Amino acid sequence: MILKRPGEIDAMVDAARVNRAALEAVEARLAPGVTTAELNDVAEDVILRSGGSPAFKGYRGFPATLCTSLNEVVVHGIPDDRPLQEGDTVSIDVGTFYKGYAADMAKTYAIGAIPDDVQRLLETTERSLYAGIERATPGNRLGDVSAAIQDVVEQEGFWVVREFVGHGIGRTFHEPPDVPNFGRAGTGPVLRPGLVLAIEPMVASSRTSVVVLDDGWTAPTETGVPSAHFEHTVAVTEDGPRILTAKETTTSIGEGVAHGA
Ligand code: MF3
Ligand code: CO
Repeated sequence: MILKRPGEIDAMVDAARVNRAALEAVEARLAPGVTTAELNDVAEDVILRSGGSPAFKGYRGFPATLCTSLNEVVVHGIPDDRPLQEGDTVSIDVGTFYKGYAADMAKTYAIGAIPDDVQRLLETTERSLYAGIERATPGNRLGDVSAAIQDVVEQEGFWVVREFVGHGIGRTFHEPPDVPNFGRAGTGPVLRPGLVLAIEPMVASSRTSVVVLDDGWTAPTETGVPSAHFEHTVAVTEDGPRILTAKETTTSIGEGVAHGA
């Protein structure tokens, strides 16, 4: 595990701020009729104009700035010319490099009205993210974070996706350790100040495996059930978890929960 000095974490906050601005610009454009390719252009514009570069584009051949994952697609959907429709959900995942550091963030949005159980899936997945973040304190173990996420998800009767996990992040956007969204409390490596994690629960509405389509990326639930995905970049600090991708980065927990950051 790579531990960052406080000055490096401040640099990661700058990357996270650019990344967040890109997501907010996309968020402002979400509406029926808009294509995910248009959203991709909006995000890329913000990142480039800010002096950053898209972290996903070119990573293992991924072709875009955003992952746009609709409905049953869990992660890694590729932006295209399909317009968003009322009743869709779309996970927008964006990563940015800025002055040598990476940031990574995702949120799942409802386009217009969606069924109550899908709304509950979105809310539960976001709540599980914050439950995991709360455990990202020095002296806790990685399994405490994983187990907290899994508990929230399973209490609602939903299914934690096993095929994809969160990750450490820093000068590269995938670093050790893996951060599973399932596991046992009290197990795994001890968390230390300076560790920065991309925590990203991916949840399906019922038990299913996740497959990858022939494009090599798009990863839908095998059964076709809906899914959700929320992600923050979080630093473990002496003062507790610091959500680098939150609206305000001076406080850690609570702000995000209150405002749905
Ligand atoms: N947040 C996702 C992840 O950490 C997005 C990666 S998209 C990729 O894996 F194209 F860059 F792989
Ligand atoms: Co990630």
